[in-house]
Amino acid sequence: MIEDIADSEPFAPFERWLALAHKSEELAETMTLATATPTGVPSVRAVLLKGVDHRGFVFYTNLESRKSGELFVNPHAALCFHWKSLARQVRVEGLAEQVTEDEADGYYASRARGSQIAAWSSDQSRILENREQLEKRVEMSTNRFADRSVIPRPNFWSGFRIVPDHVEFWQDQPSRLHDRLVFIRDGESWRRERLFP
Ligand SMILES: Cc1cc2nc3c(=O)[nH]c(=O)nc-3n(C[C@H](O)[C@H](O)[C@H](O)COP(=O)(O)O)c2cc1C
Repeated sequence: MIEDIADSEPFAPFERWLALAHKSEELAETMTLATATPTGVPSVRAVLLKGVDHRGFVFYTNLESRKSGELFVNPHAALCFHWKSLARQVRVEGLAEQVTEDEADGYYASRARGSQIAAWSSDQSRILENREQLEKRVEMSTNRFADRSVIPRPNFWSGFRIVPDHVEFWQDQPSRLHDRLVFIRDGESWRRERLFP
């Protein structure tokens, strides 16, 4: 019940909800990321949450992808977590900023070697002629780093942090009389409001 959220900021309740979701769902860290062009044409896709703290919500991606291109020219972004098993969603709105080089290096180093090779091999979001072209790229990257135990992070691959100004907690309730609680950034603190369902 949303009544249980007595916090004065959204990050602690978010972490509680995510922890609960992990107990009942696979890939509970999946979030839908919305970006938009400067003229307001939106696009959405799923990405994985790889870090959250009082600064915001972090994911990693190819910096030359469609989403990154949109965020570089229009940093306004929105996220949606939907946990079906809990009948809950969390909506986040804010501005995207790139994570530091150190953060990106740290996360890249933690990935499986195959995922590191994949990052080098994919021109994410651009046209692929056929599956063989991708497989050839993977083979080339594999050979390139064959004698290196540590694969460096490509400079075209990093992360973004969505620094939120709105975080809404939504909980299903009978007869569609759902609970909605939104935290709105107000300078250094957060204002809490309830919304009609
Ligand atoms: C469950 C799930 C998790 C995903 N996680 C990521 C991710 O963390 N980073 C990423 O770049 N793409 C991820 N993808 C792929 C994206 O949804 C998307 O296809 C890709 O990033 C290209 O998006 P774009 O062309 O809009 O930039 C994920 C897809 C799914 C279904």
